[in-house]
Amino acid sequence: MCGIVGAIGSLDFRSYLLNGLHKLEYRGYDSCGVYISNGKNHGLYKSIGTVDSLESKVPLNLSFNPHVGIAHTRWATHGGVTLSNCHPVYSSDHRIMLVHNGVIENFESIRNFLIEKGISFSGNTDSEVIANLLSFILSIDNSMTKAIERMMQELNGSYALAIIDTYDTNKLYFAKNLSPLLIGKGEGANYLASDQIPMADITHEFIDLKDGQYGYMSKDDIHLFQNGEEISFEFVSRSSENLDVSLNGYEHYMLKEIEETPSCIERLIKNYIFRKKYTFDKKLLRVIERSTEIIFLACGTSYHASLVAVDILRARGKIANAYIASEFAYHPVIMTDNPLFIIISQSGETADIIKCLPFITDNAYHLLTITNNRYSSLARKAEYYLNLYSGVEVSVASTKVYQSELVLLLMLFDAIYMDLNLIESLNKELLVLKDIINRKEEIKPIAKELANYEHCFILGRGLDYDSALEAALKIKEVTYIHASAVQAGELKHGPIALVSQDFPSLAFISEEKTAHQMRNGFQEVKARGGKVFVISSKSLAEENDSFVVLDSTIYLAPMAKVMVAQYLTYFITLEKGFNVDKPRNLAKSVTVE
Ligand code: M6R
Repeated sequence: MCGIVGAIGSLDFRSYLLNGLHKLEYRGYDSCGVYISNGKNHGLYKSIGTVDSLESKVPLNLSFNPHVGIAHTRWATHGGVTLSNCHPVYSSDHRIMLVHNGVIENFESIRNFLIEKGISFSGNTDSEVIANLLSFILSIDNSMTKAIERMMQELNGSYALAIIDTYDTNKLYFAKNLSPLLIGKGEGANYLASDQIPMADITHEFIDLKDGQYGYMSKDDIHLFQNGEEISFEFVSRSSENLDVSLNGYEHYMLKEIEETPSCIERLIKNYIFRKKYTFDKKLLRVIERSTEIIFLACGTSYHASLVAVDILRARGKIANAYIASEFAYHPVIMTDNPLFIIISQSGETADIIKCLPFITDNAYHLLTITNNRYSSLARKAEYYLNLYSGVEVSVASTKVYQSELVLLLMLFDAIYMDLNLIESLNKELLVLKDIINRKEEIKPIAKELANYEHCFILGRGLDYDSALEAALKIKEVTYIHASAVQAGELKHGPIALVSQDFPSLAFISEEKTAHQMRNGFQEVKARGGKVFVISSKSLAEENDSFVVLDSTIYLAPMAKVMVAQYLTYFITLEKGFNVDKPRNLAKSVTVE
């Protein structure tokens, strides 16, 4: 949530900062801003809405040559979406200019303290409290690094900060706690950003700041501090492989990413299978085998992928449970004494999951982390780690990564139980997915019709219910249609009361043993005026089904059904004229609780 870009030295600031914001915009897109300075002259530009709108405000030919700059794209937490709340924010004396990612939990008491000291605020953000606190401390002791250290002692919460002291613009200051911040080493310039992506074309040498670290950079130097002491550091090399965020000719990221699914699966096969054998760490496989219980922790789409894994494990007699991380953090449930935790997160930065970590580490439980970013906070704290290798997912709605999460989990458990025949089935599944991609135009008319409704049920049983949950999330978050997943057998126990000609259902049929019951249920819905759009597997298909996919091995069936739901979501959203890649009120990675 929110993105930070900054640099000091000799470079084209307009291009670096604005391009950087464009690349980070999917992380938060309520408002954005840029501050540049050369000590004598400065420019502060802010805009509500997209980086495009900001771009038109920053002059193409700047009237001065900046040597330091910071920029930010915001997802509002404290304070509405207004220009005064938009970053960069500054202290009331205009000495401190900063951008902030994260949430300060004790901002209200600090703000009240500062107000008592006569300091005024122009907005409502916790970030402006940081700027004023720092400036206040500086009024007592004029050393920036000491003031930052003191400030960090006062702040409770998460922050990645890029700070300019307008009294001395030859340094760009930074500080980090619980929010990612990366320093990039350049030639005649140094860089920082909340993510590698804005710096990927510029440098491969980074300092991955740890919690509690702070410091400053000049164009040639970087100084790092912790607990009042200057500390040494080494640059780590990071490859920019799979960091491409271009649209490659597609109109939207969501469409591009849905259609990247087959190549993501091929990448997983390449990385985890060699000569028809899995290459997972043997120690990890032993831990899985010996654990008395597997506990999945995840949120949103990643949670839905874990539900399929739970079904597979339980069917093999293993105790397995999936919990929504934000719930587990406050209501942890352990059924047995030797659990293995499996954390699944596309971004690897989700705050609700990070909140669960102390419980796992304090109890010395085993932990496997699966993310799409091996440098993310969750990946770095992992005991065992598996990369999803899906490439950057830009669209806020997760599509290709859901599929990769599912496949990687299946591979992992197939490596133990050896009964899913996955290595063969995956190649067949690729054909199933490519067939859907080739026939996506057939999904458009269904989307056109569904776009007319305000509500719908998504019906499924068994694994199809897991897919229904994911389909409902997708439809809700991007089309703003209220979609609710129902285990089809439960309809008559209550939800059917809502069915009417204005309340249709979308239904998945992949399993032979429940197909008949599913279709009986449709009669009850239709008898009450409700329309049913059926997405079925070929061998279970009937005339008038809305879309038929080729048959999958049962555990892979969610891939095809969810892909159809992803296309439906995409086409409904286009039909309704909403922003496909940046749905309202959301951000790609949820780094605040
Ligand atoms: O990065 P994560 O996988 O931890 O994110 C979890 C959810 O925030 C995420 O899946 C969210 O639900 C997506 N917007 C769903 O499309």
